Amino acid sequence: MIDLENYQIDGLEQLLSPSLVLFREIMEANLAQTIRLCGGADRWRPHVKTHKTREIVRTQLSLGITKHKCATIAEAEMLAEEHAPDVLFAYQLVGPNIERMARLMDKFPGTRFSSLIDHPSPALELGQHMARRGKTIDVLLDLNSGMDRTGISLNQQALELYELLATTPGLRVAGLHWYDGQHRDPDPGQRRLAVLQGWRQFLGFRDRLLLNGFDVPRVVASGSGSFSILAETGEPNLELSPGTTTLYDVDYLERFPDLNLQPALAIVSRVISHSGGSRMTLDVGHKACAADQPAGKRLYFPSLANAREVQHSEEHLVVESPCATNYSVGDVLLAFPRHVCPTVHVHQALHVAANGRIVDRWVIAARDRILTI
Ligand SMILES: Cc1ncc(COP(=O)(O)O)c(C=O)c1O
Repeated sequence: MIDLENYQIDGLEQLLSPSLVLFREIMEANLAQTIRLCGGADRWRPHVKTHKTREIVRTQLSLGITKHKCATIAEAEMLAEEHAPDVLFAYQLVGPNIERMARLMDKFPGTRFSSLIDHPSPALELGQHMARRGKTIDVLLDLNSGMDRTGISLNQQALELYELLATTPGLRVAGLHWYDGQHRDPDPGQRRLAVLQGWRQFLGFRDRLLLNGFDVPRVVASGSGSFSILAETGEPNLELSPGTTTLYDVDYLERFPDLNLQPALAIVSRVISHSGGSRMTLDVGHKACAADQPAGKRLYFPSLANAREVQHSEEHLVVESPCATNYSVGDVLLAFPRHVCPTVHVHQALHVAANGRIVDRWVIAARDRILTI
């Protein structure tokens, strides 16, 4: 599944552990492949939560990717500092984030910010606040694609909410948001059926808006499991928003091998205790690797056939594998996270590998909740 030949680095033993290594050529290949699957850089609105890193934003901008999505004000600020021209805050603005957004708009007039709405009361509060501040913010109606996380159902109330967004001072209605991240079937045929079934319902709703005389300037839709399927519909004004495809991870590699992407990020880990048998302990505890995946399924070690994670605590991972006898205390192993986004979030920086050597260190700047605003 992962060929370690593609992940060779001179001087790997010199690196601190646990720490992250980004394989730059693999990330660049993932970016190129995602752009190809989207049908162009202008059709991709990557979610920045996957990497939270300025240098990766710069790489994306250099490839002509000008639209971004984010989930925190710090991510939005980092994007604006990097001169990203169009930033969608893919969250409903509530509480202090409303004024924080107004301050972002003050500080970065060169960036066009937008946000999501799925309920009338935050819509009115946001509109009133922006109007008081002499501003108008673009808002997209967040629709529930069946994921049942956020978004309003496709019904009459949703039509009325769209009308409210179109008529509330301080708001400018900018279109629809459809995140269908629930489609994770590893069978590409089944996944396609489910994605397109949801999409037909979406189109029915969008068409009702158009028939009622509303403008739907843009649609922001999809995650890694659905974007290539929606891209093929050729729908105009569609922006596809996979995020994980930039770095990719083992979970998605197992589920979506059809995307032809490879994990670009690994954790450098070391053996810190060894029983001498098939069991050994590594330093990649859940302070170095996301713990949102089920215990026993958080990391993949290409060099440890049939490894079983038998214990995972803050600083320790106990694994059992017949290959453990090949290793001694102090040896280095590359571990691939099953969920890359929250793994990146627990590290301060990442090493960058290119041409088989470490060439740089990039700070994961937006892991902080607050930059300046
Ligand atoms: C609203 C939203 N958009 C886009 C994405 C990116 O999806 P993926 O991680 O499948 O690439 C996510 C991921 O959680 C999300 O929550």
